[in-house]
Amino acid sequence: MSSVFYRSALPYPVAVRADGPYLWDSAGKRYLDGASGALVANIGQGRATVAQAMSLAARTLAFVHGSQFSSPVLEEYSARLMQFLELPGYRFWAVSGGSEATESAIKLSRQYHAEREEPGRYRIITRRPSYHGASLGSLAASGMGARRELYTPLINEDAWPKLAAPDPAADGAQDAETLRTLLEQLGPQTVAAFMAEPVVGASDAALAPAPGYYERVSEICREFGVLFIADEVMSGMGRCGSPLAVRQWSDVTPDILVLGKGLAAGYAPLAGIAASPQVYAAVMGGSGAFKHGFTYAGHPVSVAAGAAVLGVLEQEGLLRRSRELGIRLLEGLRELQSRHPVMLEVRGRGLMLGVVLGDPETGQSFQTPGMAARVGRAAFGLGLITYPGSGAVNGVRGDHLLLGPPLSLTDGQADELLEKLDAAFELVGREF
Ligand SMILES: Cc1ncc(COP(=O)(O)O)c(C=O)c1O
Repeated sequence: MSSVFYRSALPYPVAVRADGPYLWDSAGKRYLDGASGALVANIGQGRATVAQAMSLAARTLAFVHGSQFSSPVLEEYSARLMQFLELPGYRFWAVSGGSEATESAIKLSRQYHAEREEPGRYRIITRRPSYHGASLGSLAASGMGARRELYTPLINEDAWPKLAAPDPAADGAQDAETLRTLLEQLGPQTVAAFMAEPVVGASDAALAPAPGYYERVSEICREFGVLFIADEVMSGMGRCGSPLAVRQWSDVTPDILVLGKGLAAGYAPLAGIAASPQVYAAVMGGSGAFKHGFTYAGHPVSVAAGAAVLGVLEQEGLLRRSRELGIRLLEGLRELQSRHPVMLEVRGRGLMLGVVLGDPETGQSFQTPGMAARVGRAAFGLGLITYPGSGAVNGVRGDHLLLGPPLSLTDGQADELLEKLDAAFELVGREF
């Protein structure tokens, strides 16, 4: 009997090794990772350069506590990362996971206003659907019914107002006016921040608003003194074909940026926030300290992994590859759509790709969700990993598949992904 507390009661295969976009289990079965885990392993696995950088860091300086020291790896990496993201003057706060990072952004936005003599600002507006993390603060911020429901007695909903999802078919600037309406209803002097995933991942199928949306969001936030937090835990670091997805909406610069997942691409737990010079100055020039911290923040081994991953992204031109391969896969998915009408819609940016599933007869989501999970299971059986989800329509209804292979995928591997997905839909279609 195992001593492991598994994520669910399902029997799990045991993965024993990985190379590039492939994993092997203990029975010798090979899986093509069409989702990079959960859009994490962005440069593929088995990179010796990353392992060497981590080993050197562990041997040189395994740990420092953030209340006592900085470290050369953290100093160098933060500077390089801010340059890569084209965020001059921003300050990087490194943590271990996306939930810690969104939690940090939420708390920093609250402290920012308190430092500026506006302690009445506490509300964090987010959208529904959305996913910002599993810790109680980041979960409260999340508009994701199934993951949130059990914990609602622990959440003060007054602090976490929700805005409707953007409509990709609408006029982007007009669509963003919904934020102004909500701010006016709430009283903008009670709102600390608006947080959004530029391209929605876990809770919907790579949903992105129309041009003009984030430009207007930024303007509205500035007008009302509300901070704009871009949660790019999934969409950032080249996943959508650019360093930051939000920059695909003209020149939008968030006050606080949240990163995770692809930052160290699964080699080590690494996430973080980047705070604008104005936000940083308010805290350091005010009380002088961020009232928040984690023991493993800025861990040298994780940061060294992040630096090595950034090197691979740059040297191998993986952002360009994400854009090129994204177009190829989107075309391939559209071809599959013509054979599998349950694929109601395909969309995506770079290698963050989504398929909306639903009833071909009505063109709407199925009454009872489960189709995405079935396709995901069929694909897994055929040796293809996808990232199925549900609840995008009203917290319960709505099925989608998220795809996000490593940015280093070859054309041949992309074809293999499409073939396996085709076979999975074929299998589920036969049962249906
Ligand atoms: C946009 C976004 N924010 C935050 C998180 C939480 O990250 P983590 O699971 O690393 O805590 C996720 C995870 O899927 C995410 O997609």
